[in-house]
Amino acid sequence: DKPLVVGLAGFGTVGGGLVRLIEENADLIRRRSGRDILIKKVLVRNAKKARNVPLPDGAELVTNPRDLTDDPEIDVLVELIGGIDNARDLIDRALDQGKHIVTANKALLAEEGLSLFQKADRKKRILRYEASVAGAVPIVEALKESLTGNRIQSLMGILNGTSNFILSEMTSNGLDFDVALKQAQHLGFAEADPTLDIDGHDAAHKLILLIRLAYGVHYPYTALSVRGIRGLSALDIRLAREFGYRIKLIGQVRQVPCPEEKADAKECGEGPVRLEAGVFPALVFHKYLLARVGGAYNAVRVDANASGPLFFHGRGAGDLPTAGAVLADLLAVARDERPNNTGFVGKELPKAAIVPPEEW
Ligand code: NDP
Ligand code: HSE
Repeated sequence: DKPLVVGLAGFGTVGGGLVRLIEENADLIRRRSGRDILIKKVLVRNAKKARNVPLPDGAELVTNPRDLTDDPEIDVLVELIGGIDNARDLIDRALDQGKHIVTANKALLAEEGLSLFQKADRKKRILRYEASVAGAVPIVEALKESLTGNRIQSLMGILNGTSNFILSEMTSNGLDFDVALKQAQHLGFAEADPTLDIDGHDAAHKLILLIRLAYGVHYPYTALSVRGIRGLSALDIRLAREFGYRIKLIGQVRQVPCPEEKADAKECGEGPVRLEAGVFPALVFHKYLLARVGGAYNAVRVDANASGPLFFHGRGAGDLPTAGAVLADLLAVARDERPNNTGFVGKELPKAAIVPPEEW
């Protein structure tokens, strides 16, 4: 089958991870989608910068966005440049040119996503964004597909890897806030502007996307109450520990009933429910699962009316964990219009590959 031709915008932490993963998993990609994924062009700001990851075979490094958006051979734009204005213009133009979109850009989707989603719908293009929330943790797909038969009562979690890394390092290794932040930047966890991480805005962007998925509403980003971890001291963390708590940056949304006197009022929206949502540092009892989430890991607890409580946990940032989520979206685009009822079923497993438990 014809390969899926990709225009990759951004060759930093996640873009580099994606290039590596597509190469490493080429056989698996072919088996799972029936096609190859071919990166034709890679858009960067500075073509002269030294890169840790080699350019994919045959790919061209470009600095003009139009080289990607206006190339008729490119089927899908993978947007990994981050930020709002340039990324929006790029995606907007790519949709106009009939491309599908895969992005990890939660800031853009939370603040200006509505018009992009509407445009993608109008143009009948796919817009996927699994990597934009919680890195490797498949929470977008879970809410969009697996839990779609449930009413979501509440959702709370650790949605920013950098903040969680800083808090964990301050708690376990006694590192200073600034030193831990520098490490998070060095490891590729932090945003290009790390104030987004430490002031809670990155977690807030992700929460807006989760609210959209869980409740089907557009919660205005500017209306969300947001506090980050800036200013937390080693003393705060030590005192919390002494009382059996961990400090965690939490993003939370829950349905709260509309007060009776307002039941018919516009303040409560269409139904008799309201959403209470915010991002804030919180004391979490050390025996709770959320308290045990360390490093740049993320976790989301979902309470839903049929499934009951669910807990999702995994790497929330970094090159390969995030690239894995981007690649899953690309595979979904590659399989478009192909039935995928059972996921991936290959040939029968050879006898030698079936290992009984006692031989583990
Ligand atoms: P990096 O800063 O590491 O890489 C950004 C890349 O985009 C660079 O290659 C840069 O070019 C290029 N770029 C930036 N602006 C432009 C522009 N205007 N025109 C052309 N190229 C541009 O970012 P990350 O890889 O960390 O993040 C990318 C996206 O993924 C962001 O939206 C981020 O929020 C999201 N994300 C990141 C995660 C992570 O763990 N890092 C996890 C989940 C999501 P050059 O190299 O020349 O400077
Ligand atoms: N800067 C983000 C974080 C990257 O630390 O969680 C993952 O979205």
